[in-house]
Amino acid sequence: MNTLMDIRQELQTLASSAPAIIAATTTTAELADAEAAITGKRSPIAMARRGLGKIDPEQRRDVGILIKQVADALQHDIDQRRNELTESEETAALAADAVDMTLPGRAPVVGTHHVIQQVIDEIVDIFVALGFTVARGPEIETSFYNFTALNIPDTHPSRLESDTMYVDFGDADEGVLLRTHTSPMQARYMEQHDPPVYVVVPGKVFRADPLDPTHSPVFHQVEGLAVDTNITFGDLKGTLEMFAKQFLGKDTEVKFIPHYFPFTEPSAEMHAFSNGRWLELLGCGMVNPAVFENVGYDPSAVTGFAFGMGVERMAMVRHGIQDLRHLLENDARVLRQFV
Ligand code: DAH
Repeated sequence: MNTLMDIRQELQTLASSAPAIIAATTTTAELADAEAAITGKRSPIAMARRGLGKIDPEQRRDVGILIKQVADALQHDIDQRRNELTESEETAALAADAVDMTLPGRAPVVGTHHVIQQVIDEIVDIFVALGFTVARGPEIETSFYNFTALNIPDTHPSRLESDTMYVDFGDADEGVLLRTHTSPMQARYMEQHDPPVYVVVPGKVFRADPLDPTHSPVFHQVEGLAVDTNITFGDLKGTLEMFAKQFLGKDTEVKFIPHYFPFTEPSAEMHAFSNGRWLELLGCGMVNPAVFENVGYDPSAVTGFAFGMGVERMAMVRHGIQDLRHLLENDARVLRQFV
């Protein structure tokens, strides 16, 4: 049974030993255990409160005040320690979670245009700056637009199945094929538009060729057509020479070598001197009056020039690429060089 002396003694012992125990806790969990021992149900403070009833009523008030003083003082120490420990635990949690804002970022991989598209854009831009518009035509063509309208005779070898990929189109009464060049758009465009015409036509073309360093069964061309009342061979030369200088550099020299195409008369190949050698760049010529007639233009009222160039070839010349297949394999190590 607790005597008054016992109660005072215990409270004094607690009041002197507990602060060090509270201060020695290092986590909020440890502090909760200490708190239970110091102020909980089985603590000396709880015992003292329970013992109050047995104390002489004269003394009860003083002892009650003492219990409250000790309990309040210890509770104050516990609350203060809890604040300290909570704060350091939060700081530690934040530090463990921290993001280093000073680390350099990782750049996302951004797609780009394929080098073939880049070269198409470069070529087209040069002509657009000269006042040409841009048109596109169907990749599956009729033999009329691909050959006949362009004055290519029925007997021409390019019409053979060994050269051209025909499409089985049921009972179509003329040949249907994957276009072998972009020139059919000359005829389609002139049928749809009155002169003057200044147009370039980029697009895919198809031939029964093997895939090797300089050939592909699918490749790209840019076609050009200028028709007006007084277009001369001088206009053709000036325009294409200017193009070569823009595309390959302002010191580029060009020369025109006579050639034959059924849809131009006269016809030529333009060669350019670049990187120490002459390169064949494109085919060109004055639009054959027979083509004007085929599309409903009056050959006595207009003249024009036309040209066609292979985009893969232009890309190889421009970037010093030796094997056309590099352009088609989509090897990222190659493509990354042209971002
Ligand atoms: N269509 C020709 C070819 O694929 C290229 C060509 C030559 C186009 C002369 C033209 C031209 O417009 O005038 O080989």
